Amino acid sequence: MGRPAYACSSCGNLLEVKMDIAESITRLSKVDHRSRPISVWRYRELLPLGRSAEVFSLGEGGTPLFRCSRLARELGLKNLHIKFEGANPTGSFKDRGMTVGISKAKELGMKIVTCASTGNTSASLAAYAGLAGMRCVVLIPEGKVAIGKLAQAMMHGAMVASVKGNFDQAFKVVMDSSERLGLYVLNSVNPFRIEGQKTAAYEICDQLEGKSPEYLYIPVGNGGNSAAYWKGFTEYEALGAVPNRPIIRGIQAEGSAPIARMFSTQSDEIVPVSKPETVATAIRIGNPANWKKTVRAIRESGGRATTVTDREILEAQKMMARFEGIFAEPAGSAALAGMIKDVNNGDLDKASEVVCVSTGHGLKDPDIAISQCVKPATIEASVDALRMFVGG
Ligand code: F0G
Repeated sequence: MGRPAYACSSCGNLLEVKMDIAESITRLSKVDHRSRPISVWRYRELLPLGRSAEVFSLGEGGTPLFRCSRLARELGLKNLHIKFEGANPTGSFKDRGMTVGISKAKELGMKIVTCASTGNTSASLAAYAGLAGMRCVVLIPEGKVAIGKLAQAMMHGAMVASVKGNFDQAFKVVMDSSERLGLYVLNSVNPFRIEGQKTAAYEICDQLEGKSPEYLYIPVGNGGNSAAYWKGFTEYEALGAVPNRPIIRGIQAEGSAPIARMFSTQSDEIVPVSKPETVATAIRIGNPANWKKTVRAIRESGGRATTVTDREILEAQKMMARFEGIFAEPAGSAALAGMIKDVNNGDLDKASEVVCVSTGHGLKDPDIAISQCVKPATIEASVDALRMFVGG
């Protein structure tokens, strides 16, 4: 077995799986993949795993694409959907990448897996590593990981180290040490994870019955997921499954927005943010590992990356919860916040078909939710007390 590689040794760019379109069309023609339940593994022929490889699955993907008519009416939109990735087994989109990433790691004979994480990657990796009987080491930024995510990583049996620093520093430690310590990295620099995540784009096209939306709003942290969606849409178009691709609008939190800054300054080089801050701790990243891939993807789509404030994120979180019954974590509300901002600024045609990606479940971060809501009243155990409480 050779050494695992994540980047090209000559140009330094991250590796990417390239699909052989003709071969994939032949493979797909031999199966009726659309008769399978919608999920990551519906698209097995389009995923880079050996035919005899074992698949480690918890039933990831197949998440709902909600048509949000109450929100749409409120905002004056015609056609708004939310792809709710919080409905994945560990509560975030990371499970798509991990089912493929861990199955591949096992196929390659890896024994110990690792990641640095703002929370969701570690929760997901811990769960899938446990399922595959592998050891798992995760590094998280000290004090900045939502409590639900930490509980998951610990409960699933990962070795959890809290690093004195932010995500970018923890990630550097992982990359600097993985080879020496024999750890297989399952951050989004791992190309097999991106392959799993691209299936969300296939699913949206299938759920919209054979087309892409006109706009896709998606939060951007490290940039892996937005690049994965673009890869998925691009492949599905090349395979002849859809006639179009969406315009991608990447949304970053104002205090952690090096990619949006590149767009506003029309620069070709990233300037990392040394002290990223945002209430959306999942995307509290100042030096995104996948910036090149995602900037290329967003530009190719004719889109752009912009920012939202913490207040806008929290308002969108509440709107989603109250109008549509969808409870998302703050980062999982950033895409909607960005879309609302565009609507208010006249930067989005209200008749367009729009999909916002909500990337993680609200139960991951109960502290943030509780801090925004009215505390429960304490009342006597009587009908009268309840009558008083509900106002007569
Ligand atoms: N939304 C959520 C809920 C996330 O957890 C993340 C990333 C993103 C959006 C951004 O995705 O990095 O691919 O651009 N979370 C990583 C983690 C960094 O460690 O859990 P991206």
